[in-house]
Amino acid sequence: MSSETPAERLDRTRAEALLGGGERRVEAQHKKGKLTARERVELLCDPGTFEELDAFVQHRCRDFGMEQNRSLGDGVITGHARIDGRRVFLFSQDFTVLGGSLSGAYARKICKVMDLALKAGLPVVGLNDSGGARIQEGVESLGGYADIFLRNTLASGVIPQISAVLGPCAGGAVYSPAITDFIAMVEDTSYMYVTGPSVVKTVTNEDVSHAGLGGPEVHAVTSGVAHFVRRDDADCIALVRRLLSYLPSNNAADPPRVEAKPPLGQAQELDDLVPLDSTKPYDMHEVVNRIVDADSFLEVHEGYAKNIIVGLARVDGRPVGVVGNQPNHLSGVLDIGASLKAARFVRFCDCFNIPLVTFVDVPGFMPGRDQEFGGIIKHGAKLLYAYCEATVPKLTVITRKAFGGAYDVMSSKHIRGDLNYGWPAAQIAVMGAKGAVEIISRREIAAADDPVAESDRLTRDYEEQFLNPYRAAELGYLDAVIHPRETRGRLIAGLELLETKRDKNPPKKHGNLPL
Ligand code: HXC
Repeated sequence: MSSETPAERLDRTRAEALLGGGERRVEAQHKKGKLTARERVELLCDPGTFEELDAFVQHRCRDFGMEQNRSLGDGVITGHARIDGRRVFLFSQDFTVLGGSLSGAYARKICKVMDLALKAGLPVVGLNDSGGARIQEGVESLGGYADIFLRNTLASGVIPQISAVLGPCAGGAVYSPAITDFIAMVEDTSYMYVTGPSVVKTVTNEDVSHAGLGGPEVHAVTSGVAHFVRRDDADCIALVRRLLSYLPSNNAADPPRVEAKPPLGQAQELDDLVPLDSTKPYDMHEVVNRIVDADSFLEVHEGYAKNIIVGLARVDGRPVGVVGNQPNHLSGVLDIGASLKAARFVRFCDCFNIPLVTFVDVPGFMPGRDQEFGGIIKHGAKLLYAYCEATVPKLTVITRKAFGGAYDVMSSKHIRGDLNYGWPAAQIAVMGAKGAVEIISRREIAAADDPVAESDRLTRDYEEQFLNPYRAAELGYLDAVIHPRETRGRLIAGLELLETKRDKNPPKKHGNLPL
């Protein structure tokens, strides 16, 4: 008979479960500049609120000597906690245990919290740091991944799912974060790729590093896979906490309202912010920051497709999704990247009852062979589809140009924009004056004694007639032409007015978004 009492046994087993992969591996983790899985959980959750599940689960593999290599919890910490007082489910992969690799038992732990989260209508946060499928378990591990992918998909649009990638995330393992709503990565220590540098070398003979192939720079700027990059684990986890503060717990709840803050700067500054010369750039962030609550704009996809900006913000304490063309970058043109970026964001906001506020200054879709060959037709259609389909309150402000098809796409009245405003210098037309005159008055110009003077005269004429907001206002396509300084007030009133908005799409299994 053991001298240990049942209570002592529980305490000893609990203490053992806290050890992870042991001191040496914890030290190695810290040396890389990474926190351990438990340290991350502590940072993520409100103090004392984390309740662990399945801490005593172990794998059942008997191959490759694995019966000698078991640890309590099996490399992933799962449970629920509170973040800013609100409940969430979470998992945190422990790289110190077999490289955080995923076994069948480990996958079942993750599936359990996902199932509970879906039933309870609560978000799931995944802290990823793993060498991928546990090689010793073969297909059981692959099956475990597929079980997770299925749950990610079924939960999509029902509960928010957020992935922080805090170390390796390789092979098919990338597809769980990829299905979630947001991916945040950490500088220097995180990377994601479907096949690693050694396979790349074998197949294509290219030499690439982990970071060069799938580091944060790659995914935040080039591929658009990552929505956020932060300096270190602590920063990244702080971001996850902040992100959740804008989101409802599920798709049947409203996003949480907080106390309002006045915006940065003076409203009057907006009146002179947009240059009247429509070829001159300005920074759309300056517009957004003077309208939304101070310090509330959390930019998403900051480094990717900079010709459009998207992010969460608050207006009078109410969370909104902001989309704005960015005249400072490629004149704010809509290209493939911008369309994909904004389409995904619009659909996210629509899933989770977050009203959309769209700032429009767009010269049109990007012309050119690269764009056509790359499928600007189908990618641009995604943004159009996303706005058409969205039933959340949609408020639109045309700050300057709204040309061509891009006028239609950017939350216009015609695709169920609820409240559409134009600033006095708004220009709404099929195209800019010069291009228009060259097409419709080519013969007249050619026949004139002074073709240049004639072209200038016709251009001015066109500008006066068409490049203003009043045609659109006359037709009711704009609900009002407003001074820029009046915008915040209009948005606050509009959001309040539309709080009870009910709109829906025809019943269907699902639409056929042009993928
Ligand atoms: C089992 C693994 C493992 C894995 C790492 N380890 N990956 N054990 N299965 N997939 C173990 C190592 O043996 C080691 O154990 C410990 O974790 C730490 O690994 P190191 O290699 O020492 O760490 P590091 O140098 O930091 O390198 C990290 C790494 C490397 C780049 C992730 O471990 C690696 O390349 N791992 C394999 C990655 C991989 O190919 N995974 C399969 C991808 S395919 P000890 O005991 O020494 O501490 C895949 C398919 C999923 O995931 C499909 C889903 C559909």
